[in-house]
Amino acid sequence: MCGIVGVVGNPNATDILIQGLEKLEYRGYDSAGIFVTDDENGQLVKAVGRIADLAEKVGDKVAGTAGIGHTRWATHGKPSEDNAHPHTSQTGRFVLVHNGVIENYLQMKETYLSGHQLKGQTDTEIAVHLIGKFVEEDGLTVLDAFKKALHIIEGSYAFALIDSENPDTIYVAKNKSPLLIGLGQGYNMVCSDAMAMIRETNQYMEIHDQELVLVTKDSVEVQDYNGHTVEREAYTAELDLSDIGKGTYPFYMLKEIDEQPTVMRKLINTYADENGKMTVDPQIVKAVQEADRIYILAAGTSYNAGFASKAMLEALTDTPVELGVASEWGYNMPLLSKKPLFILLTQSGETADSRQVLVKANEMGIPSLTITNVPGSTLSREATYTMLLHAGPEIAVASTKAYTAQVAALAFLAKAVGEANSKQEALDFDLVHELSIVAQAIEATLSEKDLIAEKVQQLLSTTRNAFYIGRGIDYYVTMEAALKLKEISYIQCEGFAAGELKHGTISLIEDNTPVIALISTNEKIAAHTRGNIAEVVSRGANALVVVEEDLAREGDDIIVNKVHPFLTTIAMVIPTQLIAYYASLQRGLDVDKPRNLAKAVTVE
Ligand code: AGP
Ligand code: GLU
Repeated sequence: MCGIVGVVGNPNATDILIQGLEKLEYRGYDSAGIFVTDDENGQLVKAVGRIADLAEKVGDKVAGTAGIGHTRWATHGKPSEDNAHPHTSQTGRFVLVHNGVIENYLQMKETYLSGHQLKGQTDTEIAVHLIGKFVEEDGLTVLDAFKKALHIIEGSYAFALIDSENPDTIYVAKNKSPLLIGLGQGYNMVCSDAMAMIRETNQYMEIHDQELVLVTKDSVEVQDYNGHTVEREAYTAELDLSDIGKGTYPFYMLKEIDEQPTVMRKLINTYADENGKMTVDPQIVKAVQEADRIYILAAGTSYNAGFASKAMLEALTDTPVELGVASEWGYNMPLLSKKPLFILLTQSGETADSRQVLVKANEMGIPSLTITNVPGSTLSREATYTMLLHAGPEIAVASTKAYTAQVAALAFLAKAVGEANSKQEALDFDLVHELSIVAQAIEATLSEKDLIAEKVQQLLSTTRNAFYIGRGIDYYVTMEAALKLKEISYIQCEGFAAGELKHGTISLIEDNTPVIALISTNEKIAAHTRGNIAEVVSRGANALVVVEEDLAREGDDIIVNKVHPFLTTIAMVIPTQLIAYYASLQRGLDVDKPRNLAKAVTVE
């Protein structure tokens, strides 16, 4: 969600900014802009729509050695050129990009900015007017003005500010929104994530909340808001530029779906040695052993992955697992057990809702584990422990390989804990072998793409709504399946406990309503779900059955290879990812960048 880039001290500033913004496109945005200066002349270019539109407007006329750029995901004021960042102060001298939400922007406007002319409706524009006022009307130095503004501003922000009269410094600050410093040779950069600048450097420096940074071409000075210098080491980002390309794939989502067998094998190599012995960090294992309850906090697909892993975690660790929607728990935390462990499940490691729960957990002294795909991400840095997903960059907004990697990573954790507790079921569970069977099952489903595309064409090409139904762990997979379909095809869809349908929702079934049933686990569950399919079909529904091979019957539509029951949710979700992909593709939609959505949701 929203991206910030900045560079100082490089004659190719425009290219670096535009390429950086392209790398941040996956996060989701509705408009973009850059400000570039060569010391004397600053140029501001903004565009609604894609970075390609911005790049076209920029052409080859905009050049300089310093600049800032932004992709905006509107929170205050509609997507428009006026509301796009960078924003400027009253006189145009100060130029600012911002990610986040300023909560007290209206008070700031009333208290400080009478007589100021604002061009748009954003909270950000008020912040830059405020800084401009403190310098130009009140006579403060730029640094003091910035600091004063930071003391006044409440909310979430990552800021990059340039004084166009003295553009050798980028003034940076952050609170709750992500931002990093990238260290180049003879120049320096600012970016929302390392991916944006990985072409330029693998050396980065993190910024903590409520820190201010002065970035020049040859120095980076970190301070707290009271002006005390903070020492900060650089770190090396382990990202491979080649991971980021989409190769010959039409969309990242399809590439990422196809990568899942490889991800499973990567996790085997990471979390088990050649003898199949678990290599999960013993400290993490101990933290789980010491907990009397595991709380998984997450959003969206990651939340669904938590549900998909709950039964397995409980069976292997003998510890109850509770799920929490991060956006709720931030302010509505229930009564906790005596020895809780919080697991923050998050692909990006940047989700603001999940982070606010972690901040609370840290305040309360609760141990925490972040399971994330992004090393060095905010949630990884701030949790007690981190476990990585090793899924490679996930670019498509719709998360696929992160879900399956999350379930698999939790399986390694659960098995390691079960083994440490000498639990027989854990000792008997040959995870390395079972996960390699899962990788093969995924490959088998991937080889059925044409069949799945055809079924989707028949079932979903004109519908406005649909249902997924299932029981037990299949129900949990329906939650993810429905989210995926909604997210990228815009078909309204609910994932439903098959037995619950008759308690109200079945009234929505009419002629040709698509109902996709997921069937796995055992005969008993299969028989009951089939009963529920019969109920909807007799009311006019078009049913499509996705079933594990040992439970399949003649006429079923998509057959999934049998895998170990602890890992069924991984195998069963794959056809639903492809169903969502083809539904979106067949409707001619932008599969990777669905409307209104952002990849990393960095506002609460
Ligand atoms: C997934 O398809 C969604 N785009 C979304 O639900 C996502 O899973 C959610 O925003 C949480 O993100 P995270 O895993 O990066 O924390
Ligand atoms: N709140 C700001 C706006 O609406 C920033 C949004 C963003 O993070 O992109 O312009």
